Amino acid sequence: MKKLLDLIAQELVPAFEKAGYDASLARVSLSNRPDLCEYQCNGAMAAAKQYKKAPIMIANDVVANLAESTMFEKVTAVNPGFINMKLSGAYLADYLRKMQADEDLSVEKAKEPKTIVIDYGGANVAKPLHVGHLRSAIIGESLKRMGRFMGHKVIGDVHLGDWGLQMGLIITELQKRQPDLVYFQDDYTGEYPEEAPFTISDLEEIYPTASKKSKEDESYKEEALEATRQLQIGKPGYRALWDHIMKVSVTDLKKNYGKLDVSFDLWKGESDAQPYIPDMVQKMKDEGFAHEDQGAYVVDVKEDTDTKEIPPCIIVKSDGASLYATTDLATIVERMKLYHPEQIQYVTDKRQEMHFIQVFRCAKKTGLVSDDTKLSWLGFGTMNGKDGKPFKTRDGGVMRLENLIKEINDEMYQKIMDNHEIDPEEAKETARIVGLAAIKYGDLSNQASKDYVFDIDRFTSFEGNTGPYILYTIVRIKSILNKYQASGEDSQAGQIGVAANASEKALMLELSKFNSVMEGAFEEMAPHKICSYIYDLSNAFNRFYHETKILSEEDAQQKASWIKLLVLTRDVLESCIGVLGFDAPERM
Ligand code: ARG
Repeated sequence: MKKLLDLIAQELVPAFEKAGYDASLARVSLSNRPDLCEYQCNGAMAAAKQYKKAPIMIANDVVANLAESTMFEKVTAVNPGFINMKLSGAYLADYLRKMQADEDLSVEKAKEPKTIVIDYGGANVAKPLHVGHLRSAIIGESLKRMGRFMGHKVIGDVHLGDWGLQMGLIITELQKRQPDLVYFQDDYTGEYPEEAPFTISDLEEIYPTASKKSKEDESYKEEALEATRQLQIGKPGYRALWDHIMKVSVTDLKKNYGKLDVSFDLWKGESDAQPYIPDMVQKMKDEGFAHEDQGAYVVDVKEDTDTKEIPPCIIVKSDGASLYATTDLATIVERMKLYHPEQIQYVTDKRQEMHFIQVFRCAKKTGLVSDDTKLSWLGFGTMNGKDGKPFKTRDGGVMRLENLIKEINDEMYQKIMDNHEIDPEEAKETARIVGLAAIKYGDLSNQASKDYVFDIDRFTSFEGNTGPYILYTIVRIKSILNKYQASGEDSQAGQIGVAANASEKALMLELSKFNSVMEGAFEEMAPHKICSYIYDLSNAFNRFYHETKILSEEDAQQKASWIKLLVLTRDVLESCIGVLGFDAPERM
């Protein structure tokens, strides 16, 4: 369905043209004076110079031509030349009825669906998932769902950090502890055991121990580096250990991401890109893109228009090793070959900005992707504690994701139990659902690039701009609908009618924005726009609810019309939270 703003602009076009003005002036926006009108057109101001006329005269000409229009309740020309509009109640009701009948609730799906790879999550294998990875998972999941909602083919890839020094560290530490394992016998030719010689809890202890040792002991670090190198050139025993580490870690990661309702289509990682590196590097050298610089190979990526220094992209280090950029470039080669995406979208900490500038420029310059392949990056800010410093546990350590989720759920559980009598088991499940909304909404409601303060008290509050408030609104609607149904009525029977009062009209106007909000949020990769929309929509609903006695209304037709309006409000809110990545409980 067309967006309401476009329909209004379309209505203004003939009015401008008939008065002798250009059609392009008929642009309409939401009013920035909601006390005066709902929509406004500033075209007359823009036209003044061109037509050498006072803007108010132009506005008057246009308004005169709208006298017959049934779209508006009121159109006025206001000094110095605004055209202020109020939509007619009948027109608005008709728009919402059409929206309700549309299976996509008025959102126009992409006419030419694109294949989009979203690279998010980015956990590092064998290292615990900490809050730093939380944002990438939450934001990326929402971008993925937005893309799908708009009709695109979106492939989510977790892109694990599975090829670095942490693997060598674990192997080294394991060898010290259990030197007799077959993985360390160079003359071993048999099959390696199916079962890993460690559990996830072992790994969680081994990695930090080894990492600490390597920082204190140079020769230990050398050993770990050598083990990493041996692994990367394919030493069989180390490869077998790597397989074990991967299996044990990925099982654990899936469990953790599962708790966040975050899921990936691909569980690929840096290791998958390695086979593509040699040919890619050779080609960059052969074609003259990569040149030698102090023993290393680099591709220059600076451009004349740069306002800051953009260093060359290093492809091969002087010791022959590849780097983070090399792996990301080779991953682009792999993705183009396997999935032919029109767009690759990355979601990482904003401190990686330079890395992605270099990688994207290098990929374009060396022809890994064509000019029309979109490489885009969303850099997010830091999640801080109330003290304004990066979020830590009470004792100052890095907060593990599991513990963070647990803390929120405990807080939520307490609130729900305090609120009313409820079966503890149901309260636990509800706390899980609402807790997840608290975390995700707390994150997504901020513009992603900004730092934000993780404030458990605020995020779990049922009032204010929070996830629980949105869910509370949905649950309130569901409860009214249930009562209506329980009284033997059919909640689908009525039709949305003309607004009976100002708060109902305000709610209807909010609902009509849904398609334009979704489209805009996806275009700008901005989940926070959906959050602020559902906050406004929830407020509009609650105002209407407080001013209207819905269930005790005696006029059955009026009542049925409000019920249909509630159904639409619920459906829009639920579509939005679905895209944000959380659900609403039945009760709370
Ligand atoms: N593993 C990386 C980290 O923890 C994030 C990976 C992001 N994706 C990418 N293609 N570089 O910082």
